[in-house]
Amino acid sequence: MGRAKKVVLAYSGGVDTSVCIPYLQHEWGVEEVITLAADLGQGDELEPVKEKALKSGASESLVADVKESFVQDYAFPAIQANALYENRYPLGTALARPLIAKVLVETAQNYGADAIAHGCTGKGNDQVRFDVSCTALNPKLKILAPAREWGMSREQTIAYGEKFGIPAPVKKSSPYSIDKNLLGRSIEAGILEDPANEPPEEIYEMTKAVADAPNEPEYLEIGFEKGIPVAINGTVKTPVQLIQEINTIVGNHGIGRIDMIENRLVGIKSREIYESPAMVVLINAHRDLESLTLTADVTQYKRGLEETYTKLVYNGLWYSPLKNAIDAFIQQTQIRVSGVVRLKLFKGNATIVGRCSENTLYTPDLATYGAEDQFDHKAAEGFIYVWGLPTRIWAQYNRD
Ligand code: ARG
Repeated sequence: MGRAKKVVLAYSGGVDTSVCIPYLQHEWGVEEVITLAADLGQGDELEPVKEKALKSGASESLVADVKESFVQDYAFPAIQANALYENRYPLGTALARPLIAKVLVETAQNYGADAIAHGCTGKGNDQVRFDVSCTALNPKLKILAPAREWGMSREQTIAYGEKFGIPAPVKKSSPYSIDKNLLGRSIEAGILEDPANEPPEEIYEMTKAVADAPNEPEYLEIGFEKGIPVAINGTVKTPVQLIQEINTIVGNHGIGRIDMIENRLVGIKSREIYESPAMVVLINAHRDLESLTLTADVTQYKRGLEETYTKLVYNGLWYSPLKNAIDAFIQQTQIRVSGVVRLKLFKGNATIVGRCSENTLYTPDLATYGAEDQFDHKAAEGFIYVWGLPTRIWAQYNRD
């Protein structure tokens, strides 16, 4: 008796997930492995995937194009939440996982599978995100994670695969572990494991080195509608187009590289390099537009919830009651966040140089230092009397 009869496996085409196919069948007694590769905009890598899975023993090999939903339903809400994990990482990898889990679960249900499987090891965040998301969506499905248990080294994994006709990687495999999608690239391992080492230029694909970026600044205007980016320089774009084009425009100026020591949910500190040009710029621009269109108390209160939201997403709780409740709060705040933010891109920086909105709360008559000033200066005196009252009393009695 195997652990499951029919399994839908999250498939990337790499050695590890390929080896999962015969491993599930021969070691764990699975009768049928259906592979599912999610197209999240990782590009050419997906081409040969279909055939590769079949050659490795899959009974069916599916590719799901989920780019549109990825941007609309996962990236855009994260932008509305100004979600930067530990203040820096725009969650490119973390946001993809609940969507992959969703298509895995739907596929398992459509094909009558009794389990889903993934190739994550036991050390990362992604295993948590897959397992918890799948459980949230269908608690009846089993979750199999062979690479968490098989204890094979890289060489042993390749050798095991070769027994079942899975070719060893043709290119000398990259020393880095890279996860890539429309929202960016996450790069770790190799010489990056020493946090003192400067990342070599070769690891970057989406961003130019600052030294090679244009010597002239370029302006970029991003139009937002209810907190969602919809236009570039006055032209409306589809969600996928918008992300792709902003990646190209700002990546060309060397914008969007992040080098950080990150705290994983499983307790490990890891050194991570990200390049996430569009997300970095969109979150900064969005936050700026909020400062123009939201009241002070909403802006400040939202900040606390943003932090919680970001941790929930990072920690695999995309589908959870607290996340749902925070989503509702955030959606309510975004009703007025429409307008245009103007950025100046130059040598690794995207500097916000202007913003405007039909919902602006900025009041020139109150803000001006000129003659048009409408602010009642005399009213300030009474306000300060009351505001400072507790401090005055404290100072009079004792100052401890
Ligand atoms: N640390 C990031 C996260 O947990 C990225 C992990 C991506 N994986 C990789 N092979 N680089 O979201």
